[in-house]
Amino acid sequence: MLFDTHAHLDDDRFDKDRERIIENFKEDGIEMIVNPGADIASSVKAVSLAKKYENIYAAVGVHPHEVDTMDENTIEVLRELAQNEKVVAIGEIGLDYYYDNSPRDIQKKWFREQIRLAKEVDLPIIIHDRDAHEDTYNILKEENDDRLRGIMHCYQSSLEMSQQFIDLGFYISLAGPVTFKKAKTPKEVAAGISLDRLLIETDSPYLTPTPNRGKRNEPAYVRYVAGMIAELKGISYNEVVKQTNENAKKIFAIK
Ligand code: NI
Repeated sequence: MLFDTHAHLDDDRFDKDRERIIENFKEDGIEMIVNPGADIASSVKAVSLAKKYENIYAAVGVHPHEVDTMDENTIEVLRELAQNEKVVAIGEIGLDYYYDNSPRDIQKKWFREQIRLAKEVDLPIIIHDRDAHEDTYNILKEENDDRLRGIMHCYQSSLEMSQQFIDLGFYISLAGPVTFKKAKTPKEVAAGISLDRLLIETDSPYLTPTPNRGKRNEPAYVRYVAGMIAELKGISYNEVVKQTNENAKKIFAIK
């Protein structure tokens, strides 16, 4: 059974058929998903979905696009949300130098504060890194200790750099782009890194994999990500599904 480690089912684009999608999980071969937050409102929504449905887990955190709105009180709210037993990570957090929606200094400050919160509550982190590989790595390295662990979500950097993140205790999660014809780097990463450090995700409703590009993404399409990884590694689809499922349960401490 598939484990989609990153799906924003709280998103408005699922308002009309969220229930149906979740009810179809079994039929679609989905065992469980993690719904990360992007701000306080979506973190609260993620937690309430997780409370309602057995096969949904939540992460809580503020995305780099939204960190402009953060203050000490926001950290306190996240700390409280993280107490819920279905919350399995702090995320998604990180740096985005492509859009630069928040000033970089502010992004770095709140990335660091949320990493410290994760260590305090002993949860892994889910990282969004867009065009900010060096600063992301340097902050993780500075904050590294035996409690720091997590996931490089929708990993877009090089195979070479992936080893540095793995050495810090991170898993590499691949999404729809690995299925895109022109996406050379994610394909190199899929082929090159050890299966025991790989995770799969959709990032629904975004980044719809081939052959459904143009449609809204949903957790069922994570099978195309698994299928492409199997093809690139020259191993069976079932092996990819089984190992990525085990990896996900390990990092999120789900029994
Ligand atoms: Ni996301």
